[in-house]
Formats: sequence, C-alpha cells, structure tokens
Amino acid sequence: MSDECFKYKGIQFSSRALTVKDLEFVEKEFQVREDDVFNITYPKSGTIWMMEILSLIYTDGDPTWCKTVPCWNRVPWIEAPATEKQLQKKNCPRLFTSHLPRSHFCKSFSGSSAKIIYTVRNPKDAFVSLYYFAKRSIFFEEPESFDLLLDKYLSGDLPYGSWFDHIKGWMEMMGKENFLLNTYEDLQKDLRGSVKRICKFLGRILDDAALDSVIENASFSNMHKNSMAYNILWADAIMKPGKNPFLRKGISGDWKNHFSVAQCEYFDKVYKEKMCDFYVKFPWDSP
Ligand code: A3P
Repeated sequence: MSDECFKYKGIQFSSRALTVKDLEFVEKEFQVREDDVFNITYPKSGTIWMMEILSLIYTDGDPTWCKTVPCWNRVPWIEAPATEKQLQKKNCPRLFTSHLPRSHFCKSFSGSSAKIIYTVRNPKDAFVSLYYFAKRSIFFEEPESFDLLLDKYLSGDLPYGSWFDHIKGWMEMMGKENFLLNTYEDLQKDLRGSVKRICKFLGRILDDAALDSVIENASFSNMHKNSMAYNILWADAIMKPGKNPFLRKGISGDWKNHFSVAQCEYFDKVYKEKMCDFYVKFPWDSP
C-alpha cells in the first residue's frame, strides 16, 4: 500500500480523494431519504455513464442540465469531501454516486426504500480501464507494470478494495425491490432497452422523444464532446496531462488487446476460485 493510501475498516482508500472523517460521515451520519437514488459501481465500470443516464432520465431527456452542470455536482459521490456541504441544497429526488463497498455504506440505508442501481463490468475490461486511469490519476500510485497492478487488483490491494468483495457484498441485495443490477455490457448491447428498464425501476415514464434524447446524449461520442460529463476542471485537478482517461475507448472486450495468454489464465484461475460459490451469471461468464 502506498504512503498516499490508508485503510478504513479493512479497505484501502486514497488520502488524496477522501479522509476517514468523510467515510465516517457517510457511514454514521448521512441520512438516507426514501426517495434517494444511488448509482453504485466498483471503479471503472461505467460510473459516469450512469451519472449521465440518470441526469437525462430525471430531466425527461433535456440535455441542458448535463451540458451546464458538472456530473460531479449533478450526481455527487457521497464519500467525497464536498458532498456534506451540498446536501442541504439538493432537490428531490437526490441522485448520488458511490464506489463504497456495502460494508462501508450508510447505516441509515438499512430498511429504507431508497433505490440502488448497481453497475458491474467485466473485471478484465474494468482492470484495463483502471490501468490507464491509474497512470494518470493522482489517486493512484503510477503502476510499475501491468503485471504488478494485476496482482494488486486480484488481491484487492487498491483503493476501494477487491472487485470480488465489492460484487459479492452488493449482490446480497439481489432480489430486493429497491435494487437493480445493471451491466456495462448490457448498456453497450442495448442502451435503449437498458434505459427503459432503469426508467421502469425508477418509476419514470419517458415518451419516445425523451428516450431518443437520453440515448443520443448518453452516447460515447456525445459524452466525449460534453466536458460537463466528466468535469474538465476537476479532471485537470486530479489528472496528469494527456488524453481524456474518463472516456478512453468505451468498448467491451478491450482486455483482449492487453492480456497475454498467461495473464488471462492467471486471471481466470483467481476468478474461478473467488466466484465458485457465486450464483449469478454475468454476460462474460462461460455457460
Ligand atoms: P474505458 O477506459 O474502457 O474506455 P468509470 O466512469 O466507472 O470510471 O468508467 C469509465 C469507463 O466507462 C471508461 O472505459 C469509459 O470510456 C467508459 N464509458 C463512459 N461513458 C461511456 C459511454 N457513453 N459509452 C461507453 N463507455 C463509456
């Protein structure tokens, strides 16, 4: 673990991103409201994509909010230091984002009917995305190599802990009325169908024109053109110079361009061991 990181309740966090006080606030003091909506992901799984989709759904497809207010303020991270100050100003329903594992989430969520949209991505693709992000972000130590970062990823020795524990923790909510499982791969394959499913879950009725606008404005190319979709000011503050690492390629299966046969076998072995007792099949799992 680097000097820039600390552990809280067994999970690693970057001290450049947040503090123990922020985590304690979320866990112990944050008061969840019944109509809150949470966009939850393990890092690099489609977080800002879902921020954009939710923003568009709640404006009936009108992109003005998305184009004028940074995603950071529209669907803020609950664990971010600024959120506590913003809470009073937020309209209902409040939309939030979080990368926190279930074990670190708000105590006041238990028993509430606030909604969780949990987006999962093929961990190999999320890893490749993280590799490029870590090279540029001040929240991560510059990876010495793909191999070394892969070791850390598979053992959970990175900010927000293990992909496997994150998935297993949140998926305990599977089957509950206020929990929607969504995959990055489904968004890719059928954005319209996915948005309709999300609308149904949220109780939002969008007509065809509004749906068309959500699909159009949440496309990779349009999000790329919209600096508010990743907040360029914030990006400049946390990123070393270079290409936009928030919207890098936006495809599924890029891992095939990066993993050697040996790395793939190693990943699959660990995945099989860690997920052998897991009951849900994801789009990337073999039948
Ligand atoms: P890549 O690095 O593979 O391109 P997060 O928001 O959780 O950090 O996830 C970032 C990943 O989601 C990046 O993956 C990014 O390109 C992808 N992404 C964001 N918006 C997208 C969109 N509209 N379409 C497809 N992929 C998108």
